[in-house]
Amino acid sequence: MKNLEGMLKEDALEGKTILITGGGTGLGRSMGKYFLQLGANLIIASRKKDVLQETAKKLENETGRQVLPLVCDVRDKVQVETMWAKASQEFEEINGVVNCAAGNFICPTERLSANAFDTVVDIVLKGTSNMTLTAGKHWIHNNQEGVFLNIVTTYSWTGSAFVVPSAAAKAGVLAMTRSLAVEWAKYNIRTNAIAPGPFPTEGAFSRLMPGELADEFNPARKIPLKRVGEHQELANLAAYLMSDYSGYINGEVVTIDGGEWLQGAGEFNHLRNIPEELWDSLEEVRNKKK
Ligand code: HXC
Ligand code: NAP
Repeated sequence: MKNLEGMLKEDALEGKTILITGGGTGLGRSMGKYFLQLGANLIIASRKKDVLQETAKKLENETGRQVLPLVCDVRDKVQVETMWAKASQEFEEINGVVNCAAGNFICPTERLSANAFDTVVDIVLKGTSNMTLTAGKHWIHNNQEGVFLNIVTTYSWTGSAFVVPSAAAKAGVLAMTRSLAVEWAKYNIRTNAIAPGPFPTEGAFSRLMPGELADEFNPARKIPLKRVGEHQELANLAAYLMSDYSGYINGEVVTIDGGEWLQGAGEFNHLRNIPEELWDSLEEVRNKKK
């Protein structure tokens, strides 16, 4: 299997500068590392200064390229604009933005406070709109091309019980992705999204499968491919969508989930649990009837 290897040519992102919100940890960090390996410069932005600085240092050591860590709470429009201004002082052009920052937790909806609901929606939907408006207006004003990549989830389409604020907010980001793909295409700004299924990260798994739930709801068991995602698999897809090789892809949302969400949709999908011997005996009965 080559799925743990980088897929693109070594210089696929040479000369590009890419900003990743939530780039200090988890999937944002893994995407960032691969972008650096492909020749990009990187800006990572989130709330925790120490986490950002440590990641920046490690990634610089690992790849020999420049990483700029900037503290920013994406919920706050002014902080986002200030962060963009600082990044623009450091780099001549910022060519792409990955909206990856998110907040989430499991909770029965009737137990949520209004503030709990707002907190998740503000990070996911408002954070993405703050970042998108800041970068988009800058690119349009300067007559500059740009690429957005929004990290959503598979339940952006279906919704999901127990993560209602996240589902509502990610559905909003999905709608924003498709809307802007059309509206801003005339400015040569492409907007795409990735909808990952379960990829192990401390941030997601500690909040969504805490304690005993981790064993009981082990996602690998219910995924048709019987495994969770590898970070490099997501990084390969993200790098492609951020690169010029995907220059004609706009408004697409690529699912990367081992077939997880569709298995709940097909009427007869549960038949995959039937053992081969039962299929054999059904076939025997059918043959006898002939
Ligand atoms: C119910 C909760 C809660 C929980 C917090 N709250 N955690 N309510 N159940 N588990 C409530 C609080 O009581 C408070 O409401 C309000 O939410 C805000 O909480 P704070 O802790 O003050 O918020 P803040 O410090 O801003 O932290 C935000 C956070 C936190 C979202 C709550 O978890 C966080 O920082 N997350 C960032 C990283 C993250 O979530 N990563 C996972 C992404 S995975 P009151 O009313 O008491 O004031 C993902 C998709 C995964 O998105 C899909 C997998 C397949
Ligand atoms: P993660 O490591 O917890 O990443 C979330 C990031 O968002 C953190 O770096 C966090 O950094 C940042 N963040 C949170 N609130 C912020 C705020 N207000 N302002 C700025 N940054 C903020 O979790 P992950 O699993 O890698 O998730 C990354 C993305 O993938 C998310 O969009 C998530 O919805 C999506 N996703 C993940 C999975 C999965 O299985 N892992 C599946 C589907 C979708 P700070 O704490 O420093 O702010």
